[in-house]
Order: sequence, then structure tokens, then C-alpha cells
Amino acid sequence: MEWKRRDLLDLQSLDKEEIELILETAKSFRQVSTRDVKKVPALRGKTVALLFYEASTRTRVSFELAAKRLSADVVNIASSSSSSTKGESILDTALNLEAMNVDMIVVRHYSSGVPYVLSKNLKAAIINAGDGCREHPTQGLLDIFTVQEKLGSVKGRNITIVGDVLHSRVARSNIFGFKKLGANVTVCGPSTLMPRCVKELGVEVSYDLEASMKKSDCVIVLRLQKERQQEVFLPSLREYARLFGLSQSKLDKASKDLLIMHPGPTNRGVEIGADVADGCQSVILEQVTNGLAIRMAVLYLLLGTKELQ
Ligand code: CP
Repeated sequence: MEWKRRDLLDLQSLDKEEIELILETAKSFRQVSTRDVKKVPALRGKTVALLFYEASTRTRVSFELAAKRLSADVVNIASSSSSSTKGESILDTALNLEAMNVDMIVVRHYSSGVPYVLSKNLKAAIINAGDGCREHPTQGLLDIFTVQEKLGSVKGRNITIVGDVLHSRVARSNIFGFKKLGANVTVCGPSTLMPRCVKELGVEVSYDLEASMKKSDCVIVLRLQKERQQEVFLPSLREYARLFGLSQSKLDKASKDLLIMHPGPTNRGVEIGADVADGCQSVILEQVTNGLAIRMAVLYLLLGTKELQ
């Protein structure tokens, strides 16, 4: 199949074949980053702007490296040093970038829906690098890619997503993506951090992490997103860690083959123990490596010339 979309806004609207095309394309880009010369000319002459209104290490650097390894020109705009500090709206900022013939805007914003507003008002391709509590599609794709790489397949696999599901755009992208590829998804966490209608997304709900782990092939641990919590959702961090933190003692009771993932950044000692994060079942840094290949694939499919390498 051929890629037909101008933008990547979410995984909710992608079909299974589109997700599979991105995953297949990422496989061919994975080895580019292991070469001495980590560059291919696929996006030569194109310009990619990274417009980040929220903190990021992995996603921003990964998109920048992905664009540079495809030979695109890259401009970085952080809200703290842009004219948004003088009151300019993000739409005006983006229209000004387009006036300078930027071909693509990768946007991260604390408000859900911003990538859609840009998509409706601009001709440039828009990639959602995380919008509020809504979606983080490239994180979902790299998580699926990692499960596929480690377990051989996604279909029929049991995936548990544990933690602050309510505020997690990663959880939503993972639910949409894994379910489209035929995985069974369970969400686990305190009832105060569980969206009220989450079952409508076709997931099981659990309040018992150890029980969910016993039935799972993979556990995706979510960060407690304090920056998006407007109220007190937990009696204490210590109680949260005891009940829903992935500690070595909980892991010892599960299968030795259980895959441990986390989108990062991690709060060690809160949602995940340091020994678990660094242990042999954790693939957290492999997720980061795979993220680069996924973002190269997405940039290439949206902007590429089809002359791969
Ligand atoms: N996983 C993720 O989005 O990390 P950053 O916030 O560092 O980009």
C-alpha cells in the first residue's frame, strides 16, 4: 500500500495497514543509525520545524536526529524563546514558519487538539509529538515496534498499561495502536486515575497489578503526570508506589519473559523501581532506539521522495 496522508495526528484514525506500513518502513531505517555515515538523502531540500511548547528530551531529539539523518534542514523553536512569550498564538507562529516555506511542523503542546488546528489551517505536513492528554502517536508506534521486535508478533499478545491512564496521551495511542493490531489491552491503576469511560475503548480494567502481570506478555509503565494533574488524585506517593509501582518483588512473581517498557522520563522509586528499570527484562532504552527509526519512517512517508537510500 501507499501512504496517502499529509499529516500524522493520531493512531485513532489510522487503519491497521497504515500502522503496518510505518512499522515496515521503520525496519528499513533501523540500520541507517548503525552506519559510520548515518545519513541518507531521502529528504534533501526539505525543511522540518520542531515546535515544542512542552518539555521533551526523547521526542524532540529523536525527531531532530531523524530529520537530519534523512538530510532535511531542521529548525528548533521552543516556546520559552519564541514570540509566544510576547503573546503570539501558536497558529500565528506556525503560519509564519509556513511563510518561510517550512515543509513540515512537528508540534508538541500542552493543549489537546493543537495539531488538528494547525492541520486545518496550514498546507505544511503536521506531526503530533504529543498533545495534552490526547495522543502521542509516534510513542505508540515505537512501543508497538518494540513489542513486535521482542516478541515476534503483536496479535493475540496481552499488554498491560499501568499507572496514570487518565492523563496519559501515551496510554491512548497505545490502546488504539495495539488493539488495531489485534492485541488484548488491560489498563491498570487507581480508580482516581482511570478515565470514566475507558472500557468503551475496548480494554479490560484492573486494579490489581500483580494479577494483571501474571496474564501479560508486556507491561507498559506510565509516569505519574503531575504537571497535568489539577487536583489531588492520590493519598500519597508512597501508597501509589506500594500498590501500582513496578517493584522487583512484584516482578519476581511474574514470568521471567515478561517485557517491561516505559515511555520515559521515569520517576524511579515511584512508578518503577530502579532495579526493574535497569534490569534484564526492561527494554526502555531499546524503545528509545526504535523511536528514531519510527520517526525516520514517519518523516519519510509524509515527505519522502520514495527513493529510499
Ligand atoms: N516519551 C516521551 O515523550 O519523552 P519526552 O517527554 O522526553 O519527549
